[in-house]
Amino acid sequence: MYAAALDSEFARAVRAGLTRTEQKTLPCRYLYDDVGSALFEAITFLPEYGLTRADARIIQANAGELIECLPDNLLVAELGSGTGAKTRAILEALHPCQDVVYYPIDVSAASLAKCKQELGSLGAVVPLETSYLEGMRQVAERRAPGKTLLVLFLGSTIGNFDPEAAIDFLYAIRLCLQEGDALLLGTDMVKPVDQLMAAYDDPAGVTAAFNLNLLARINRELAADFDLRQFEHVIRYNGDEQRIEMHLRSRQYQIVSIRRADLIVDFAPNETIRTEVCHKFRSEQVCRMARVAGFQMEAQWLDEEWAFAENLLVAR
Ligand code: AVI
Repeated sequence: MYAAALDSEFARAVRAGLTRTEQKTLPCRYLYDDVGSALFEAITFLPEYGLTRADARIIQANAGELIECLPDNLLVAELGSGTGAKTRAILEALHPCQDVVYYPIDVSAASLAKCKQELGSLGAVVPLETSYLEGMRQVAERRAPGKTLLVLFLGSTIGNFDPEAAIDFLYAIRLCLQEGDALLLGTDMVKPVDQLMAAYDDPAGVTAAFNLNLLARINRELAADFDLRQFEHVIRYNGDEQRIEMHLRSRQYQIVSIRRADLIVDFAPNETIRTEVCHKFRSEQVCRMARVAGFQMEAQWLDEEWAFAENLLVAR
């Protein structure tokens, strides 16, 4: 028994997900090691995956209007900022009139360093290398009286949570805020199934590599022996749940050992591991989710090319 290794959160999560009696699962946050993050970055350039460009277009086109909806004493925090590329337009809109403090929150030290370097001329950039909620707690502790907080949660990452977990997460953010603070929430909206299937199963195989890298990561970090060629990337649209599901399907019966998770697991032919869910939203669902979590929808901007919405939610 690898007692010390099982202390690792990753080992415990892999063990829990692969010993489930029904659908085997792995948490999607582990898709993003250095290789996975680089592959995700490549996905955002694919012609079939319009989500990230739509997100950036809406912010670019509406940053001025967004700022006008808010008081002029803002602090800005961003959950999962990466390099903060999309946020530049918001900081630029604030820059001439305000002393901006921007807290990018991310687990990647490299992205945060780049963020500080690229956006540092637009205000004070204070990187927080931690999880979303711990970062929010730190921002809440540091805020000076009389400031209003604008939190950015872009890219429709909220769609990667199960619906209940999404509400719990938004509520946990709400608990770190004061009345009148704001959350700019990016949501990918429902769209034709063909368009979604192409976005998550691109012909160049970049998304397939992104998905399979999760098994490669388990091999690297948990001393496992997954044969990646014996698994294939599969995308399903689940209409009842209004979501895309990303799976890895076993091509044959096989047994895999994951030493640092103290686990030997077998796979039936065609059995899958679900690695990610990507929910798509309708406007009324975003409003409801916001209301239940303690926010009110103040404004919503939609992209004309790709069904995506930027929602300005205000803490009630
Ligand atoms: C990060 N997240 C919003 C992406 C999405 O579309 O749900 C992750 C992704 N998975 C495959 N392609 C992109």
